[in-house]
Amino acid sequence: MKKIIVANWKMNPRSVKEAELIFKGVTGLIKGYKNTEVVICPPYPYLSIYQKNRNKNIHLGSQNISEESEGSFTGEISPLMLKGFKTEYVIVGHSERRAMGETNQIVNKKILNSLKGKLQPIFCIGESVRDSEGVYLSFIKHQINECLFRVTKSQMKNIIIAYEPIWAIGKGAIREATAEEFIEIKIFIKKLVSDLFDVATANAVKIIYGGSVNSFNALSFIKVGNADGLLVGRDSLVPKKFNAIVKIAQ
Ligand code: PGA
Repeated sequence: MKKIIVANWKMNPRSVKEAELIFKGVTGLIKGYKNTEVVICPPYPYLSIYQKNRNKNIHLGSQNISEESEGSFTGEISPLMLKGFKTEYVIVGHSERRAMGETNQIVNKKILNSLKGKLQPIFCIGESVRDSEGVYLSFIKHQINECLFRVTKSQMKNIIIAYEPIWAIGKGAIREATAEEFIEIKIFIKKLVSDLFDVATANAVKIIYGGSVNSFNALSFIKVGNADGLLVGRDSLVPKKFNAIVKIAQ
């Protein structure tokens, strides 16, 4: 199975020029990788740059999507609009969006809307703290059950789950997660998916890891954790660093 490596540019870089440079840098470095699916998720205004810097090895994703299809929803972007820019994936429910008020119910609507629009959701989950009582497990259980409400078994095949512990994300990360911690959650997610659907669906679901991924820890998540892929923030903005991560997955 191909490993999926997702670049989440967040609200970066500052200018179109810089965005073009990163796109060119990444497309120039990533060629002929058959075992890896590389997905770049830039901010909306930069989606068009990709049309000029095409490379069949690189796929496009967005960082968000509307719950609605069209109409009077100022500032929102529909699945159809994203499709128009050859977008194939959508990050849904990132913790930074949840911190802005996105609830599990909103994330659920966005997942359903992405699927309806033939976009593949990269559905993010993850706790803010790991407590010794295991409250974080029931937090994750709620996220999975509520966000996957009304998702059908056949739709589930198109959802990628990204485990992103908030405590391991970004510059403010408390520490890096370990491959063993990822394995624990991976098994837990599979059990939840199996309870919601069936064992075959749980076996097939792709679970990727995100949170301070870099070229030093990527191998451990891929090899020891057997992650189906990685979601990369900061290091996705530096083509050489990102390429090193893609190479490891490859
Ligand atoms: P980071 O971000 O790699 O900079 O920690 C990951 C993410 O938030 O998706």
